[in-house]
Amino acid sequence: MVHVDRYEKTWITVSAAFLLLLVAVLAYTTFGMKISLPGPLFVCAPAEYSAPVTANDPPFTAPGMRQVGPDQYEVIMTAQVFGYNPNEITVPRGATVTFVMTSKDVIHGFRIPGTTVNAMIVPGEVTRVTYTFDEPGEYTFFCHEYCGAGHQVMSGRIVVQ
Ligand code: CUA
Repeated sequence: MVHVDRYEKTWITVSAAFLLLLVAVLAYTTFGMKISLPGPLFVCAPAEYSAPVTANDPPFTAPGMRQVGPDQYEVIMTAQVFGYNPNEITVPRGATVTFVMTSKDVIHGFRIPGTTVNAMIVPGEVTRVTYTFDEPGEYTFFCHEYCGAGHQVMSGRIVVQ
C-alpha cells in the first residue's frame, strides 16, 4: 500500500470533487437549461448568394424589415463589400428586433455600440441576433471584421423613434 499523506489525500479529494461539480454544472446547463454555444441555425450555399440572389434563396431574396408581432420586428439583412442591405431601419421605441443575416462574400461583422449586439456574419451561415431598443435615438452599426479596402466605411443606421 502506497502511503499518501493526509493533506495530499485531502487536496486530491477536494480537486476531484471540484472537477465533478464543474462537470455536473456543465451537464445541467447544457441538458437541463438548454444553454449552449450558438451553432448555425441553418446553412446556405454561398455561391447561391452572389448577386443577383435568386428566388430559391429565401429569406434573403427580400432583404428588409417586417413586423412579426406587437413590438416585434425581423430584419432580413445581407452583408457584402462594403455595406449592408438594408443599411437603415426605423423602429419605434421598445421594439424588439431580430436581425437575420448572411454574407454574400467574405466574413463581416455587425456591431451596434451602446448595445449588446456584436456578431459575425459568415458566408454560408445565418447569424441571428435579437435586441430590444428601449432608448430612443440613432444607433450606428458597423463592420468590425476586416473585410477589405472599404472596411472602414461599412456601416448603417438604426433610428429608434
Ligand atoms: Cu465588412 Cu469589414
